[in-house]
Amino acid sequence: MQVLDRVKINQEISDLKKTYGDDRSALLPILQELQEKYGYLPNLVMQETAHALGIHPVEVESVASFYSFFRRKEKQGKYVLRLCQTISCDLSGKAKVARQLENELGIKFGETTKDGMFTLEYTNCLGMCDQGPALLINDRLFARVTPEKVPQIIADCRRDFIKSEFPKVVPSDVRKSGPILSHDLKPGEGLKAALKNTRSGVIGLIRESGLKGRGGAGFPTAVKWQLAGAAQSAKKFVVCNADEGEPGTFKDRYLLFNHTEMIFDGMTIAAYAIGADKGFVYLRGEYLYLKKHLQEILEKRRQNNLLGENILGKEGFNFDIEIRMGSGAYVCGEETALIESLEGYRGEPRNRPPFPVDTGFQNHPTIVNNVETFLDAALICVKGAKWFNEHGTEKSSGTKLFSVSGDCEKPGIYELPFGITIEQLLKEVKGENAKAVQIGGASGRCVARKDFNRTIAFEDISSGGSIIVFGPQVDMLEVAINFMEFFVEESCGQCTPCREGNVKLLEGLKLLEEGRCSASYLNELMRLAETIQLASKCGLGQSSPNAFVSIIENFKSEILGRVPEKA
Ligand code: FES
Repeated sequence: MQVLDRVKINQEISDLKKTYGDDRSALLPILQELQEKYGYLPNLVMQETAHALGIHPVEVESVASFYSFFRRKEKQGKYVLRLCQTISCDLSGKAKVARQLENELGIKFGETTKDGMFTLEYTNCLGMCDQGPALLINDRLFARVTPEKVPQIIADCRRDFIKSEFPKVVPSDVRKSGPILSHDLKPGEGLKAALKNTRSGVIGLIRESGLKGRGGAGFPTAVKWQLAGAAQSAKKFVVCNADEGEPGTFKDRYLLFNHTEMIFDGMTIAAYAIGADKGFVYLRGEYLYLKKHLQEILEKRRQNNLLGENILGKEGFNFDIEIRMGSGAYVCGEETALIESLEGYRGEPRNRPPFPVDTGFQNHPTIVNNVETFLDAALICVKGAKWFNEHGTEKSSGTKLFSVSGDCEKPGIYELPFGITIEQLLKEVKGENAKAVQIGGASGRCVARKDFNRTIAFEDISSGGSIIVFGPQVDMLEVAINFMEFFVEESCGQCTPCREGNVKLLEGLKLLEEGRCSASYLNELMRLAETIQLASKCGLGQSSPNAFVSIIENFKSEILGRVPEKA
């Protein structure tokens, strides 16, 4: 039992306020830092934080209970082992690793060893889907974990050797580069090119390129920038959504480490275009190991006047970027939930309108763009609109980065033009015998063989980049269950269709697994899925039944009439 010193805690909070400010938006980073110090969030720490920020302690408790990375009980182990349970890791042998972890530690998932050394937990996608099963130990990442490796990993933890023996960033295989990944630009080159142009000229160039948001929704980037630029406000913000949590997506992790300068160039260009002076990178909690690298690059950019005041000699153009960490909530990938989280609240999506371009962070105009979008925008400023839109289709210009995992010989990162057919993509990744492909992650759709001639593009099947290949041996009902468990866990619980509806869909899937679901009940569930799609408040709920619906539609004969294993 730790003895807590109120005076010391208050001193720590007041030091943290110097770094993060003293308004509500400082809440998450302060709690994250204090948890790092104490190993969990004691009540006294939460109470004192509440007093220091002038908010009610119940609100702090409510925020801490929302994010899965906050721990409110002391009995967490010194090492928290989080094993990814999401589909790509599931397909690559998660169950055996889980069993071996339990055997070695003598505890079940959700438990802590008696000596207080280890806690076992499941987690959702860690952004290592091409190298699963993935395991996160505190902030250290382990890829391709096998049952044989488990005893050594545990032994290294016991010897406290874990800190020095494993690399900070696990590389990914880039299997195919195109114009974006093979660029040869130097830090600041995109920004220098943009600053030769007027603000409206930059937006005009982005419009001409046809760039659409790479997160999956495909909203035209220039329209977003123009609306925020035209909004009247003394303060505006640029936010980079680096919260890629969609199962099967890991390309932003690669970009954030290997194309950092160009991403910051893109953010700074956006700030110039809309007239913002502050930016945030909202980095998913699972990518904490990237934070130091990002901060080092930011510091270098300050020294080179690529950030700061009168950037590159442009009188009055001031802009800086801060890294803010997520805390394990998939819903924060939705832009309004992300803004709520940045403001220090539970990551619950807002009603729209008003839109963030008008009423965003702290009610000021804010643009939220994906990591890849900022990278593309920076390159367009140097290489031109034509260079960009000579690839892709009329409505989906440019190339797209895909994270490919599952049953194929060459998983990894691919840069391919929009408009590619699924068949062509499977040939690239050597997964031609697939029986289905999940496009767009858990919230995307499952495409069966008969539709492999469809294209990946905003006008056909859109994708934020996640491609999961399912080979002939995969049980599609298990896939549907895995995705639905994901949504049941990740629903923010704000609206009834998503909170309750997905639980019902999961129950239905379990009935199917037991061979106890009639066709008429399945039809009921399909109608319920439609209701969830129509009536949910945000994109998470609206897209949560997509995998369920497409798997049932495509694989009904495989799924109905099951004989349970014990029958
Ligand atoms: Fe396990 Fe993505 S890291 S599915």
